[in-house]
Amino acid sequence: MMPSSSTTPKPPARPAHVAVIMDGNGRWASQRGRPRALGHRVGVQAARRIVEAAADRDLPFLSLFAFSQENWNRPEREVRMLLHLFGRTLRREGAGLQRNGVRMRFIGNREGFPEKLQEEMRATEAATAGNQRLGLLVALGYGGQWDICQAAERARQDGVPITNEAMSSRLSTAGIPEPDLLIRTGGERRISNFMLWQLAYSELYFCDTLWPDFDARHLDAALDWYAQRQRRFGSVEAP
Ligand code: IPE
Ligand code: IPE
Ligand code: MG
Repeated sequence: MMPSSSTTPKPPARPAHVAVIMDGNGRWASQRGRPRALGHRVGVQAARRIVEAAADRDLPFLSLFAFSQENWNRPEREVRMLLHLFGRTLRREGAGLQRNGVRMRFIGNREGFPEKLQEEMRATEAATAGNQRLGLLVALGYGGQWDICQAAERARQDGVPITNEAMSSRLSTAGIPEPDLLIRTGGERRISNFMLWQLAYSELYFCDTLWPDFDARHLDAALDWYAQRQRRFGSVEAP
């Protein structure tokens, strides 16, 4: 391999893909003596702010973890409330998504979601398919282990050997670069079965801010932190 001719360290690139585990809605509400549902509703406003901020900052891709496969284990009342909120948000946000040039894709296992919500997801994907500014992935019913299993199963059905490329092109994030930066709000320092394959070399940023309080300044703090990272991908630092 040719040695690098430059001795100047390259400034780190801006992330092409930021993934966010939006955690802390319930605690935000509990701290105020209010029902968890309020935290989820205010959390939607935070999501809207961050989508707009990401578009303003010309981030190519943003992923938001909104509902995990394991979240089906929550009390039925909370699950029902969340499904209702997702549907209402999709119906309300259509115009804003168009205005911001957002192209939406839902990732996750859609089984178990009401047919009407599934139809709304398909309709939103179709309506925003021509948008070019920000690619927004919303993970609903998503599990990282599920994603790996479904990709492997499709490779098996296609009769191809399980290679890195065979898997990447069958994951729900096919065609989208792996996240450079993962942000998790709410203070927990774990992945909670988010994009297990895709996060292999992501920079992990954990902050204590509860999701409903997260705004563009917090996003900028995470981007500034990211800009200081030295990503080596198993190699050694540039001289
Ligand atoms: C994240 O907030 C939203 C979802 C998982 C749907 P939580 O509901 O997990 O809030 P906490 O972690 O209980 O505070
Ligand atoms: C992760 O948050 C899932 C989402 C943000 C959608 P959880 O609140 O479900 O994660 P755990 O249970 O604390 O690991
Ligand atoms: Mg939580």
